[in-house]
Amino acid sequence: MMLKKALLWAQKELRDSVDRPRLEAEILLAHLLGCRREALVLKEIEDIDFESLKVLVERRKNHEPIEYITNNVSFYDFELFIDKGALIPRPESEILVEKALELIKKYSLTKVVEIGIGSGALSIAIARHSNVTIEASDISSDAIEIASQNIKSFNLQERIQVFNCSMFECFGSFDLLISNPPYIDPEFKLEKNVADYEPHTALFAP
Ligand SMILES: C[S@@+](CC[C@H](N)C(=O)[O-])C[C@H]1O[C@@H](n2cnc3c(N)ncnc32)[C@H](O)[C@@H]1O
Repeated sequence: MMLKKALLWAQKELRDSVDRPRLEAEILLAHLLGCRREALVLKEIEDIDFESLKVLVERRKNHEPIEYITNNVSFYDFELFIDKGALIPRPESEILVEKALELIKKYSLTKVVEIGIGSGALSIAIARHSNVTIEASDISSDAIEIASQNIKSFNLQERIQVFNCSMFECFGSFDLLISNPPYIDPEFKLEKNVADYEPHTALFAP
C-alpha cells in the first residue's frame, strides 16, 4: 500500500477514537517505518506493511496510549524510552524539574534523591542540567528496568544510581529529595487510556 493511501486509511480509522487522527496516523506510520514524523513527506514508499499498520491502529483504537505503542515519549528537552511497566511522564512534572534545578543552583546542592523514579524522566532531566549525583528508588522492578535503560542511553550511569526498594530505605545522606508519588484515590474513576494501561502502583495512593 502506498504511504499516502495508508495515511488516509489510518486517519479515517482513528477519527472516532482520538482527538488528532491525522497527527496520530503520522506518528504510527513513522514508527512503523522507523523514521521521524517530519521525514514522512520525503518518503516515496509504496510498500507499507498494511497488516502491521492495522495492528498499531487497532491498539490505539482500544485507547492504548500512543507512547506505549511507539515506546517513545518527549519530556523536558529530550525523548526517552517508555513501556507499560512505567508511568508515562507528564508535562506538569517538568515544573518539579524546574524547581529542583532552581534549588540546586541557589544552594549549590550536590546530592539529590528521587523516590519513585518510574521511567527515569525527572532524574535524567535534572542530571542533564546540573552536576548533581542522584540516587533513586522504585518498588517496581519493571520501572527500575526501564529507568536503567534510559539512564544508560544518556550515559548517566555514573551519576544516577537506582535501587529497587521502598521510599528512602536505600539512600545515604542527601541535600534534596524529590518525588512525584502515586496520589490518586483508588475510588477515583480514571480515563480508560490511563486506568487500563498505566501501572496502578504508579497511580493510586496506597
Ligand atoms: C506517579 S509515578 C512517578 C514516576 C516518575 N517519577 C514520573 O514522574 O514520571 C510514581 C512512582 O513511584 C513508585 N512507587 C510507588 N510506591 C513507592 C514506594 N513506596 N517507594 C518507592 N517507589 C514507589 C511507582 O512504582 C512509580 O514508578
